[in-house]
Amino acid sequence: MHTHEHSDEDLLVSARSRTRRTRMTEIHRRLVRETSLEARNLILPLFAVEGDANFRNPIRSMPGVDQLGMSGVLRECESALEAGLGGVILFGIPEHKDEFGSEAYNDRGIIQETVREIKSRFPELLVATDVCLCEYTEHGHCGVVERTHDGRIEIVNDKTVELLVREAVSHAEAGSDLIAPSDMMDGRVGAIREALDASGFTSLPIMSYSAKYASGLYGPFRDAAGSTPSFGDRRSHQMDVANSDEALRVVQRDIEEGADIIMVKPAISSLDIIRRIREQFAMPTAAYQVSGEYSMIRAAGANDWIDEERVMMESLLAIKRAGASIILTYFALRAAKTLQ
Ligand code: PBG
Ligand code: ZN
Repeated sequence: MHTHEHSDEDLLVSARSRTRRTRMTEIHRRLVRETSLEARNLILPLFAVEGDANFRNPIRSMPGVDQLGMSGVLRECESALEAGLGGVILFGIPEHKDEFGSEAYNDRGIIQETVREIKSRFPELLVATDVCLCEYTEHGHCGVVERTHDGRIEIVNDKTVELLVREAVSHAEAGSDLIAPSDMMDGRVGAIREALDASGFTSLPIMSYSAKYASGLYGPFRDAAGSTPSFGDRRSHQMDVANSDEALRVVQRDIEEGADIIMVKPAISSLDIIRRIREQFAMPTAAYQVSGEYSMIRAAGANDWIDEERVMMESLLAIKRAGASIILTYFALRAAKTLQ
């Protein structure tokens, strides 16, 4: 029959090129595998709370993640070192908040003290510090808030940058290994670079949160860091989720201003952005698997709707495949254990 002949011919052609041959057994699959995760690619975020060293408070919206006093932070750092992680990134929860977030640039502030303590015990652990004001301001905004002449509330750029610069230099003086500005103000990378250089920290790198989208996925983090804005939102500085070319422009600007590592966040909803940035700029590219991404996987896992362990590894591998060589993730320790 004609139709039969036709399909035989198809079969012959397709039999020569069969993608399943290298998928049939694990020894073939591992031979052709293109991407692999390593513990050194992963950075663990930690929430350091000022005051009682033994403080530990589980974060309701982030199962398995705690706000920690100094002892807990040091324990996590020891685990991070043992697991061979790329490092940790610190977020501070101060006892005192005010209009200008002054604890952020207090040399005896929570981050400064924590970095000093970690680096004196574990000098070989990379400690990155997040630079922003939202955990330190009473209104929870990332900068200085003022009312404009026409009555709008505005997060003012240049005054904020001045404070961020002070914060970054005080992190550097405390011993931070990587300065990570997450505020999304204009000109902060250049201003921080200049101030670090002027203070003698010419070799201290900056990891810029360059393409940071105004995302609903930061909700649980704001519980963890106590940084939910008491009014308004972050859309006047964080990027519109609809935009892609804009991410390339801000990354280019940050590179010109002296950024050493470029970060994109959230991760899973920005895989296309990660890929474009990696291809266009060939810079060390980081992605932050943010709190909401983590908590969604945990929640579905807890309900037995997904295989949590499997989806955790799948999400991290997908982020790496998209082009991120550095991944900030609350799963860092657990994923490193799986990789052993
Ligand atoms: C501070 C900051 C945020 C995150 C990292 N740094 C919160 C925000 O921008 O609201 C989010 C991290 C996460 O959700 O895990 N600017
Ligand atoms: Zn902020």
